[in-house]
Amino acid sequence: LSRAAALQSALVKERREMRDQQQRAVLDSIPKDLNRPWEDPMPENGERHLAQELRGVGLSSYSVPEWKKDAFGKTVSFGKRSNLSIQEQRQSLPIYNLKEKLIEAVNKNQALVVIGETGSGKTTQLTQYLAEAGYTTKGRIGCTQPRRVAAMSVAKRVTEEVGCRLGEEVGYAIRFEDCTGPDTVIKYMTDGMLLREILIDENLSQYSVIMLDEAHERTIHTDVLFGLLKQLVKRRPDLRLIVTSATLDAEKFSGYFFNCKIFTIPGRIFPHVVLYAKQPESDYLDAALITVLQIHLEEPEGDILLFLTGQEEIDFACQILYERMKALGKNVPELIILPVYSALPSEMQSRIFDPAPPGKRKVVVATNIVEASLTIDGIFYVIDPGFAKQNVYNPKLGLDSLVITPISQASAKQRAGRAGRTGPGKCFRLYTESAFYNEMSPTLIPEIQRINLGSTTLALKAMEINDLLSFDFMDPPAPQAVSAMEQLYSLGALDEEGFLTRLGRKMAEFPLDPPLSKMLLANVDLGCSDEIMTIIAMIQTGNVFYRPREKQDRADQKRAKFFQPEGDHLTLLEVYKAWKATNFSGPWCFDNFVQSRSLRRAQDVRKQLMSIMDKHKLAVVSAGNNYTKITKAITAGFFFHVAKKDPQEGYRTLVENQPVYIHPSSALFQKQPDWVIYNELVMTTKEYMREVTAIDPKWLVELAPRFFKAADPTKMTKRKRQQRIKPLYDRYNEPNSWRLSKRRG
Ligand code: CDP
Ligand code: MG
Repeated sequence: LSRAAALQSALVKERREMRDQQQRAVLDSIPKDLNRPWEDPMPENGERHLAQELRGVGLSSYSVPEWKKDAFGKTVSFGKRSNLSIQEQRQSLPIYNLKEKLIEAVNKNQALVVIGETGSGKTTQLTQYLAEAGYTTKGRIGCTQPRRVAAMSVAKRVTEEVGCRLGEEVGYAIRFEDCTGPDTVIKYMTDGMLLREILIDENLSQYSVIMLDEAHERTIHTDVLFGLLKQLVKRRPDLRLIVTSATLDAEKFSGYFFNCKIFTIPGRIFPHVVLYAKQPESDYLDAALITVLQIHLEEPEGDILLFLTGQEEIDFACQILYERMKALGKNVPELIILPVYSALPSEMQSRIFDPAPPGKRKVVVATNIVEASLTIDGIFYVIDPGFAKQNVYNPKLGLDSLVITPISQASAKQRAGRAGRTGPGKCFRLYTESAFYNEMSPTLIPEIQRINLGSTTLALKAMEINDLLSFDFMDPPAPQAVSAMEQLYSLGALDEEGFLTRLGRKMAEFPLDPPLSKMLLANVDLGCSDEIMTIIAMIQTGNVFYRPREKQDRADQKRAKFFQPEGDHLTLLEVYKAWKATNFSGPWCFDNFVQSRSLRRAQDVRKQLMSIMDKHKLAVVSAGNNYTKITKAITAGFFFHVAKKDPQEGYRTLVENQPVYIHPSSALFQKQPDWVIYNELVMTTKEYMREVTAIDPKWLVELAPRFFKAADPTKMTKRKRQQRIKPLYDRYNEPNSWRLSKRRG
C-alpha cells in the first residue's frame, strides 16, 4: 500500500506537469551522432549502459535503474527465430505430441483441469483437437477468455490455422459484437458472454464442450460460471468441461470440480535471467523507458516487452519512445514501437504478432493482457515495473474504480516467463528483490472479493439464485456484496426483501452495469429512450475526441462547437447526431477531431441496445428538444454520482464528501454549475469527474427516493439548510445482512 501511495503522488504530479517540458529540453540536448549501430559487439560486462552515456549528455534528471543479477546466472546466447509454416508451427507446439492422450482424457473425464505454460497451445489447439475428434458433431465447442482482445485474436489465429474466415467454422463473441454464424463450431468468447448465454439457456444446449480458459485470472464471470457449470455437468452428463490455467491453482480447481483429473502439458521454458533494481524506483515509467533504450542499444537481437498499466500510459510511453528514438537519429537501428491494450483497433492488433524485419527490433508496450492471454513470439526481454490496473470496489462510494496496484508474485513470475519462450531471455524487474518477497502478495485476489457485484448479483437473481451466501462459489464474495444489494435496492431493481423487481428483471436483460440499464429503462417512462441509447453507446466507447499534440488549439475549438449547456452527456449526443446527419461520414470525423472508430463502435452498441429494446417491446421514443427529460433519465441511473459545488474550490461528492473537479475538457468547465452528476472519476493530477451534466437537486428526491431524502427543515442548522438534500449514508455503513440470506419461498 505504501508503494501504491508513494506512486500516486510521485507519478502523477511529476509525470504530467514537469515531464512534458523537461522532455523537450532533454531531447534537444542529445547529440544526433550518438552512434551505436546494430552490429556493435556486445559489451563484455553489463556495466556500460546507454543510460550512463546519456547522463553525460543531459539525461541526468532521470533516475537510472542499476541491475543486480539473481541466482539464475549470466547472460546467455540467443537462438534464431523460426520461419516455420503455420502447420509446422502447430506441430512444433508442446501440446502436439499429447493430442491423442488429451482427447482420451476428455473422452473419459467429464471435467478436466489442464495446465501448461503459456504458449504451449492450450487455447488454440485443444479446441481444434476436440473438433477433429468429433465433438462438434454434437454441439459447439465454446472457449471463454477473460479478455476481449484475447478472444478476438485467438479466434483470428485459429481461423488461419483451420483455413476459414472469422464467423464461419471459427468465430468469436464479445460484448456488443457477435462474429459467429450458423456454421460456427469453435466459438471463442469472453466469459461475460457465456454468462449471458447461460442466463438465457441454463443448459447451454448448443454446446458439447465448454473450456474455461485462463481460469487462474479468476474474473467474477469465471467464478460465477464455475458455480453454474458445476451444477450443469450434473444435469448434462454428455457435456465436457475443461478448465485451463497457466499457474499452480490446479489442485484447487480440481478439488472444486469433484477432484477431477489434472492433465499437465510439460513446459518448454528456457532459462531466463531475472534482474532486480538495486534501489526502489520513484518513477517506474521513466525507469522503464530508459531500460527500453538501454536494451535496444546494448543487447543482442530479440524483441522487448514492456508491461504498463493502461491505455493512456501506454500511448504516452510510445510517444516518448518515438521522440527519443527520433532524437537519437539515423545511426541507431530502428525500433518498431507497438502499443497493446484492449481498446486497440483490430488492424493494429494483428501487427503485434508480426515478427520484426531482420536488423530491426520491436518493442511491445502492453497491459497485462500479454501476461498470459496472448503470446507474442520473439520476445527476449521483459521489463516489469510491477504494477497493474485493477478494478477495486469502494463500498462507500458504491462504485468500482481502476486503481494502479502492485502485482502479485505469481504475475511477476508469469511476466518473467514471457522472456524465456522462444529462447533464453532476460527480465528486468523495476523493483527490488526485497519488494518482490516482502511487499507482493503471492497470488492475485479474485475479483469476487474485490469488485462491485451489482451486475453479477442481478444476473444470479435473474436465474433464481437468491441466496448469494449459500451459492457454491470457489471463494466466497467479500462482504461488499451486501452493498451491491443496497445499490440494486436504491436503483429499484430489488425489493425490500432482496428479490428482483419487474424493473430489475428487465435490467438483467441488458449487458450493462445496473446504473446504465436503469438509466435506459427509466427513460422509457420519461420518453427519451432514443437519445439515452445514443448516450450510453457513446459513453461505452470511451475516447470520442482526439487532440493531437501539434493541433491542440484547433481540436479544442472544434470540440467546443459541440458543447451543450446541459453538459457532456448531451454534448456526446450532439456529436453523434451531427455525425448521423452527415450519413456517418468518415471525413467529417477527421475534420472535427472525432475518432471515427469510436463512433462506429457507438453505432454498433446502439444497434444492439435497440434490438434488446425491441425484444422486450420497449418503446423507442425521442424526447425531441426536451433535454430536461434526458438529464432526468441520467439522474435516475447515476444519482450515486452527484457532486455539489464547494464554496472553496471545485466540488464535493454528496455521498463521500470527497473533493472532485470538473475536467478542463468538459463542456461545463467554464460554467461550474452548482449541482452535477458524473459518469466516473478519473485520477490524474486531481480527482476529475468524467462526463458531467448539470442537474436540479430536486430530481434526486424525486428519482431516487430510496437513496435521498429532503432534510427536515425544522431540524436543520443554518449550514444544513443550504444543502437541503442528503443521502441516506447509513445504507452503506450499516449493511442489512438479512437481505443477503433471504430465500424465496
Ligand atoms: O493457450 P496457450 O498459452 O497454451 O497457447 P496458445 O495461445 O494456444 O498459443 C500457441 C501458439 O500459437 C503460440 O506459441 C503462438 O506462437 C501462436 N499464436 C499466434 O501466433 N497468434 C495468436 N494470436 C495466438 C497464438
Ligand atoms: Mg491460452
